[in-house]
Amino acid sequence: GKGGYDHYMLKEINEQPTALGRSVSGRTDSAGSTVDLDGFPAGEFEGVDRVHLVAMGTSYHAAMYTEALLARRGVPARAFMSSEYASSPPPAEDGTLVIAISQSGETADTIAAVRAARAERTLVVTNVVGSSLTRECDDALLVRAGPEIGVAATKSFSSQVATLSLLSERIRRDVVGTPSPDAEAFLSALTRLPDQVRQVVESPAAEEIADAFTDSEAYFFIGRGPGHAVALEGALKFKEITYEHAEGFTAAELKHGPLALVTEDTPVFAVFNGGSDDTETLGNVKEIRARGGPVIAVASGDTPDLEGIADHVLSVPSTHPELVGVLANVQLQLVAYHAARRRGRSIDKPRNLAKSVTV
Ligand code: F6R
Repeated sequence: GKGGYDHYMLKEINEQPTALGRSVSGRTDSAGSTVDLDGFPAGEFEGVDRVHLVAMGTSYHAAMYTEALLARRGVPARAFMSSEYASSPPPAEDGTLVIAISQSGETADTIAAVRAARAERTLVVTNVVGSSLTRECDDALLVRAGPEIGVAATKSFSSQVATLSLLSERIRRDVVGTPSPDAEAFLSALTRLPDQVRQVVESPAAEEIADAFTDSEAYFFIGRGPGHAVALEGALKFKEITYEHAEGFTAAELKHGPLALVTEDTPVFAVFNGGSDDTETLGNVKEIRARGGPVIAVASGDTPDLEGIADHVLSVPSTHPELVGVLANVQLQLVAYHAARRRGRSIDKPRNLAKSVTV
């Protein structure tokens, strides 16, 4: 059942601290010195020259997030929508590892991508033991989020990113030969994430923001790097369950076109990573404000100077800049949920959508 919650989606949002804890526990330690992925011992990914990530929807956003994590670790990686990968698979090259990401393990486009792949090895990161993709791929790594019932994916995204964070560090060690320079800080931050997600889900701030923008023309979401993946995911969640027009963009792309859409009736959610790229995102926010667009910054205390620049701040606890996006995403899940609820939408079964797209 819904365990006292009005919707499975809200229950699953609230389950994220537990789900994330399961994804991380036993796989690293609070000192951040180990990466222990059952079935993938040290040396397992030696000889990998590039990683292709294939997925759809929310899982595609986890793929984009992972592309950023791997690139920062010196591992060439590219995220593809499974459908596009299946119709034009890149040529065979030695050392290609294909990682399929799928909550259900049953998505037809992703199965097609794996079948079309000309890769040495395929691996699926999935939430479902014994799903079709676990049979299609050479190896499987479980995200351990627990069953997800709501059509809108929530806890599975957080657990995918946590699991793929560990996998990215494992791959980096095997490919480059050394841990990433800030591996300890990153891995120990991962162990603190469940408690930090709990702080976010207990805060009323997202509901207040949802209530402040009920009659807007469209809702935009921007970010860069991992924050770009989160912006796209924030927009997907918002459109799926509110039926409002929502779009995600890279912060930098705005002035190449989308800025023409920005008015005082288009709130823009700006995701900050809490790292050195915040300065550029602040510049993009100023451009939006100059066109009258209301800005809601989603940021940790490590992002300076938001006072007087953003109209609202949805704050998240401070963590490693590669993980702020997970916390920001939880805020955006809550904004979408409360916005949909206010509009009386069918939150757990949005119109026209199915939980898993097997055709
Ligand atoms: C969004 C959503 C879908 C799925 C997509 C892939 O909330 O649920 O976009 O993410 O259909 O599904 P999986 O991860 O099962 O392959």
